[in-house]
Amino acid sequence: MNILIAGGGGQLGRELERLLEEKEPSFCGGGGVFALGRRELDICDRAAVLSFCRENKIGAVFNCAAYTDVNAAESQEEAAYAVNALGAENLALAMEEARGILVHVSTDYVFDGKKTSPYTESDPCAPLGAYGRTKLAGERLVLSALPSAAVLRTAWLYGREGKNFVNTVLRVAGEKGEMRVVSDQFGTPTFTQDLARHMLTAAREGLSGIFHATCKGSCSWFDLACETVRLAGLKARILPCTTEEYPTPAARPKNSVLENARLSALGLDAFRPWEEALRARFSLL
Ligand SMILES: NC(=O)c1ccc[n+]([C@@H]2O[C@H](COP(=O)([O-])OP(=O)(O)OC[C@H]3O[C@@H](n4cnc5c(N)ncnc54)[C@H](OP(=O)(O)O)[C@@H]3O)[C@@H](O)[C@H]2O)c1
Repeated sequence: MNILIAGGGGQLGRELERLLEEKEPSFCGGGGVFALGRRELDICDRAAVLSFCRENKIGAVFNCAAYTDVNAAESQEEAAYAVNALGAENLALAMEEARGILVHVSTDYVFDGKKTSPYTESDPCAPLGAYGRTKLAGERLVLSALPSAAVLRTAWLYGREGKNFVNTVLRVAGEKGEMRVVSDQFGTPTFTQDLARHMLTAAREGLSGIFHATCKGSCSWFDLACETVRLAGLKARILPCTTEEYPTPAARPKNSVLENARLSALGLDAFRPWEEALRARFSLL
């Protein structure tokens, strides 16, 4: 089976490609892996997606492509919708035609954060901003075009490389020696390595529908910044602040902790506690 990783240049795409090459070469059963960035395959181009999948006999697609700039999406909702909703649908249509597998990735930002306990897959969605709205539309279009697709909702994603909160803390705290971070938004930091493994599990097990897929436990952005600085051995001061003191173009949920209820019920939840995964990020395990 040939595999397509869409958005192969992003932090999750690169991690998944590495996992398939280094640890799971047998996953493709002798087939090839095409990890393609936007310049090689724009998922918004339906004709290009369909013909690429046809010509290369793609039997499984892992969609790591997305418009991920949460703040910019507020003023660029159409552009975000083109990738997060219509682009995702194009991949689903290609796998519908090929009778193939699609593992798509969505977000905790489909929730409004008003719940005071972790969100399960059956909780109603009510995104606060354009990014969450376009990702929710993507989930719906994907499952309507290909009901057998697996949609993994993750949160606060970071890899060793790429643009993410952990790397921002390392850069800003390292350069300035001090950083203000919001302490009243709670979620679960999730390492790309852990999510990539579960994307393969979803494909192997033939999972379909929506699954929450984050590391275990929860913390605030402030807690995550403090732990990052500690593990990196940086002598920087992390100062807590409130959401009101740190306004951003996009509103973010106060609580976006997810419970991996469906994966757990199937005995497939192998995510680590977030602190352990973060230590692994720093190669301390
Ligand atoms: N990052 C988080 O905290 C977070 C949280 C929850 C869920 N997620 C979800 O997790 C998934 C992976 O995110 P990530 O953090 O790995 O994002 P990322 O590092 O920003 O990677 C996304 C990739 O998608 C590519 N892309 C954008 N538009 C495209 C298009 N039209 N065609 C093909 N590729 C395109 C981007 O290429 P360019 O760089 O060239 O634009 C980028 O390489 C996404 O579905 C995201 O919504 C992320």
